[in-house]
Amino acid sequence: MKKKILVTGGTGYIGSHTAVELINEGFEVVIIDNLYNSEIEVIERIEKITGTKPGFEVLDICDNEKLTDFFSRNKNISAIIHFAAYKAVGESVRKPLEYYRNNLVSLINLMEAMKKFMVSNLVFSSSCTVYGQPEKLPVTEDAPLQPATSPYGNTKQVGEAIIRDTVSSDENIRAIALRYFNPIGAHPSALIGELPRGIPENLVPYITQTAHGLRDELKVFGNDYDTPDGYCIRDYLHVVDLAKAHVVAVKRLTDGKNKSGYEVFNLGTGQGVSVLEAIQAFERATGVKVKYRVVDRRPGDIEKIWADPSYANIELGWKTISTLDQAMKTAWDWENQIRKK
Ligand code: UD1
Repeated sequence: MKKKILVTGGTGYIGSHTAVELINEGFEVVIIDNLYNSEIEVIERIEKITGTKPGFEVLDICDNEKLTDFFSRNKNISAIIHFAAYKAVGESVRKPLEYYRNNLVSLINLMEAMKKFMVSNLVFSSSCTVYGQPEKLPVTEDAPLQPATSPYGNTKQVGEAIIRDTVSSDENIRAIALRYFNPIGAHPSALIGELPRGIPENLVPYITQTAHGLRDELKVFGNDYDTPDGYCIRDYLHVVDLAKAHVVAVKRLTDGKNKSGYEVFNLGTGQGVSVLEAIQAFERATGVKVKYRVVDRRPGDIEKIWADPSYANIELGWKTISTLDQAMKTAWDWENQIRKK
């Protein structure tokens, strides 16, 4: 019998790519999403790619009554991958209570449901934001966490703590927190990808929208950083590679291969790439020029961060496969596909 995996936020950017990889690997996928930041059409897109329609319900995990009702109707869930969350750093500074409520109440509700309905395994979307500006690069999982620079970042730190403490209080619950670096790109079919609402906050959607003529120019936030070319450095990984890590994490938990009840993994390429290098990679991969202008630094930006992914490489047997140029090309194909409508 197929193992059933609940994917919260499964119509979102990383969630939809993960649903595809789970189905490809023979799992049964059930998605819950409140469609706050995604489109129901994604379900058909997942079916188009995989030939299988995932189960789907519109559900807000903050609504505990509806969540309890969902679990009482959906038995035998082998694992939960919890993506559903708000993720805009800037917005979180303006609306902290909404971020704390949405991202933390949902997690608490979900873990209470796990206890009540005997669901043992959880994979959590965390972020490299928990490291702040690390002293040592590349950053390893045991690097000290730094005070978060935004309410969004705080929800990831507190989210990890909620999970860690729950795991240590309950031997029936196991969890893996995955600390993503910067996910970019889209599925090679160009049927699913990132769909930012309004003006994108993230670099790559801003690049593709500017290249498409939707935005006049990309504002590059600072080139006076203490880095080789003066631009901020990040670790950009292809979203399909990232999605595959979730499948591996689910298998590790459901096969009982985890080494402790709560594990944390960095998911990145291990390569630091500057904003300028990212723009150049886009131009190289697509043959399209991006108009950009250097402006002031963005408050709260980390100067440089990239992963040491060796723990995930060794323990999970996972590593990134796609190059930066390939990821940029898929982001561009996706942008062109959505603008066709
Ligand atoms: C941020 C969060 C990360 C979160 C992600 C989700 C921090 C430190 N990082 O990543 O945890 O998971 O958002 O959305 O809170 N840039 C420009 N012009 C733009 C946009 C971005 O120059 O218009 C630059 C930024 O200065 C940065 C790089 O591009 O150097 C990447 O920015 P972005 O895509 O927003 O991601 P992060 O800030 O790294």
